Amino acid sequence: MALDLHQRITTKEVQHRTDGEDVILAGWAAEIRNLGKIAFITLRDREGVVQLTALKDFAQFALLNELAKESVIAIHGKVQTSKQKAGGKEVILHDIELIAKSDPNLPIDISGTIPTGLDKRLDNRFLDLRNPRNLAIFKVRSIVNWSLRNFLAKEGFIEMQTPKIISAGAEGGATLFPVTYYDKTVYLAQSQQLYKQMMMIAGFEKIFEIGPSFRAEKSHTMRHLTEFTHFDFELSFVKDEDDVLKVIERMFVQVCKDVNEACAEQLKLLGTTVEVPNIPFPRITHAQAIDLLNAEGGKLRHGDDIGTEDEKKLGDIVKKKYDTEVYFLTKFPYALRTFYTMTHGDISRGFDFEYRGEELASGAQREHRHDVLCKQIVEKGLKAKDFTFYTDPFKFGAPPHGGFGMGVDRLTKKLLNLENIRDAVLFPRDPERVVP
Ligand code: 4AD
Ligand code: MG
Repeated sequence: MALDLHQRITTKEVQHRTDGEDVILAGWAAEIRNLGKIAFITLRDREGVVQLTALKDFAQFALLNELAKESVIAIHGKVQTSKQKAGGKEVILHDIELIAKSDPNLPIDISGTIPTGLDKRLDNRFLDLRNPRNLAIFKVRSIVNWSLRNFLAKEGFIEMQTPKIISAGAEGGATLFPVTYYDKTVYLAQSQQLYKQMMMIAGFEKIFEIGPSFRAEKSHTMRHLTEFTHFDFELSFVKDEDDVLKVIERMFVQVCKDVNEACAEQLKLLGTTVEVPNIPFPRITHAQAIDLLNAEGGKLRHGDDIGTEDEKKLGDIVKKKYDTEVYFLTKFPYALRTFYTMTHGDISRGFDFEYRGEELASGAQREHRHDVLCKQIVEKGLKAKDFTFYTDPFKFGAPPHGGFGMGVDRLTKKLLNLENIRDAVLFPRDPERVVP
């Protein structure tokens, strides 16, 4: 008779049951040690693991002899205080049912005891994701998404979805992915940018989106993918970009609090901590950042782009000087920013949001004056006619506005101190990888 899965409890719940209680469990047979007269199975489900023990009077030893690791099983048994694990519970097996057997030749060691290279892990991602560390990463990522959404919804922001098939790129031609669209070439969206701004002109005032963006990145790095999850918000009637920074500060603090509260177990498993930073986060101008780097031996000129290594170094300098892992880099040279950024002279109202020595987000007060915007498009070497779908609305009353865009993948990576962004993405896409 099949075991009733409606009666199933989780491995975690077993720890709260009393000795002698009958329980039904289901999950994967992570480890099997069959000593002939006694056998031990480590049963794994999404809440954790529990030991199942088959004593010599267990009637189904024949099934155990054939059971391959990672098969799906359901069991019925009695809870007992574990002799090996102080205070822990195990389950004495009465019945076992094989629900789906696994091929015994597992391509990777799921537990990670035998290390597997990242490529092979990603080739076998469906198995790799069974490692509880990976489940922990995606539970945290889920809380991060929920927290961002919840925070902005409470502040009156409206969630939206903008097109991902577009006619002109917002973030520079170098990373556009062309797509054949009937008899035309169109592109995959690099960001929600232009549509967010059009929604400000529509009068929505506060909007956000969590959706995919695509960039034809040319090289492999630990922080770039060709498809990533872009979290963006836009806000109208700002005085300047600092109004945007103030929302980001409160939002980031809330995310850190929510992750600490909802994911204590996951953070422990991943061996990391998330400190809740104090508001305000330091605002360091681009020029000051260059001075700080040069004071520590850098050879940068004002106006230079700050590369990955220098950015890391700057993170260390700021930590020493301001005792914080989060800060804003403000007043970027306009030469380093996109056409939609508001500028005054050579300096833009664009900023980056930095965490643990890495850019998590970029944002700006945007240019809302139609004539200036059109001039900037041409100045940046783009064709004004490609952007009329976006610039024309600015003729009809655009409020001053600003916003930001952040990679959820990168945020998860940095919160958890993961080395590679690929570890924070279920099925990462990079120049070589589109499978699985
Ligand atoms: O700095 P980016 O290019 O800025 C924008 O997209 C603007 N529209 C934002 C704005 O509102 N002004 O991208 C924003 C963030 C980056 O800081 C990074 O976290 C993430 O998106 N990102 C990537 N993440 C993974 N792989 C890539 N190739 C990424 N490109 C950007
Ligand atoms: Mg950026």
